[in-house]
Parts: sequence; C-alpha cells; structure tokens
Amino acid sequence: MAEATLKSTEFVHRFLPASNVAEAPTLLLLHGTGGNENDLLPLGQALLPEANILSPRGKVLEGGMPRFFRRLAEGVFDQADLEFRTKELADFLTEASGRYDFDAKRVIAVGYSNGANIAASLLLRQPEKLAAAILFHPMVPFVPKTLPDLTGKWVFIGAGQNDPIVPVANTTALATLFTQAGAEVVTQWHQGGHALTEGEVQAAQVWLQPQRRSA
Ligand code: MLT
Repeated sequence: MAEATLKSTEFVHRFLPASNVAEAPTLLLLHGTGGNENDLLPLGQALLPEANILSPRGKVLEGGMPRFFRRLAEGVFDQADLEFRTKELADFLTEASGRYDFDAKRVIAVGYSNGANIAASLLLRQPEKLAAAILFHPMVPFVPKTLPDLTGKWVFIGAGQNDPIVPVANTTALATLFTQAGAEVVTQWHQGGHALTEGEVQAAQVWLQPQRRSA
C-alpha cells in the first residue's frame, strides 16, 4: 500500500504503512502545541522502523497553533473539551484501523507535551485502544474517579527535572496513577527542561525492545 496523506472528515493525518500492515504494530504519533502531523514522523521512524505510523493533526487551534484539546491557561485544561477530544481521537483510531487495515490491538501512542497529555487521557479513559504509550513530558490530564484497569499496558515517561511547564511532582503523580492502575511504568529523567532530548529518545528506543515482541 502506498503512503497516504488524507484529509478525512475526522483528522488531517499521515499514514505510513509498514511492509506488512496487518502484522506490524502501529505508532500513533501525537505532536505538541503548534506542531502538525509531519513533526514526529522522523521520531516514529527512529523509534520503531518496522511499525505503521498514524499521525493526526490536533484540531483545536490556539492562536493558530494546532493542539489536541483546549486549555484555559498553561497547564489548566478545559476538561469537557479534553473528554470530547479524547473520544474523538479514539473513534478516529477505530476508523483508521478499518480503513488502513492495521491491528487495532497493537497501537502504541507516542506523544510529546500536549500530544502526550491526550495520550494519557486516552489511556485513562479507553485503555483498550492502546497497547502501550511513550509519553514525552506529559502532565496529569485529569484524575479519574475510578481507576481504569491498565494491567498489561506498558508506559514510558520521559521527563525533565527542570521542566518549566511540568513540575516534577506532577510527573511523579502521573507515574503513580498509572502504576496504581496496574501498568508497567518506566520514568526516564534528565536534567533538562520541556524540550525533547536525544537521550530520552534513545532510552525509549531501548525500552521498546521487549515491547516490540509483545505489542
Ligand atoms: C498542554 O497544554 O497540553 C501542556 O501545557 C503542554 C503544552 O502544550 O504546552
């Protein structure tokens, strides 16, 4: 199947098929604020070259910058919109797996910043949609009233000790939330801020090795 760049009714997105679409895992790439569907393609290809890649563009605009859900201020999320957008993304995943014929049970989210936050929200709300998640610089998107069952889910968190947007305690709280829900969580810390570092990408690559077999 050829590479597709389609504007579906759901999301503007890219789909890059692996040589064997149905057998390969699929990376769901979720960009940060002001990014688009092309930003994380090199990252996805570096992380898992044999995977399908599905990369949507966030539909919410903030001063012209695409995001995956609305926020009221830095780190203060519009919870109603987050809930709505998370469901929309989940529905898009289902639709895309039927359209492109990839295995809906072998999807690994790879999100950065705002993209990591909606991936975390998806994991907490509809965990059956993801086998695993790589979250670079995420925050707690919301605290669920009832913890989902994340048994068997793999979560990698990349975080900066000096991130001006995500306090260390917030990252720790998110890791604890996932762990309490039963997920296998690894947090990779570095001394930097909110920017993605080469080191955390390499750590995620290494972390993906065993998941490659199971996802
Ligand atoms: C968010 O709004 O999701 C987070 O504050 C990260 C960001 O996009 O700056």
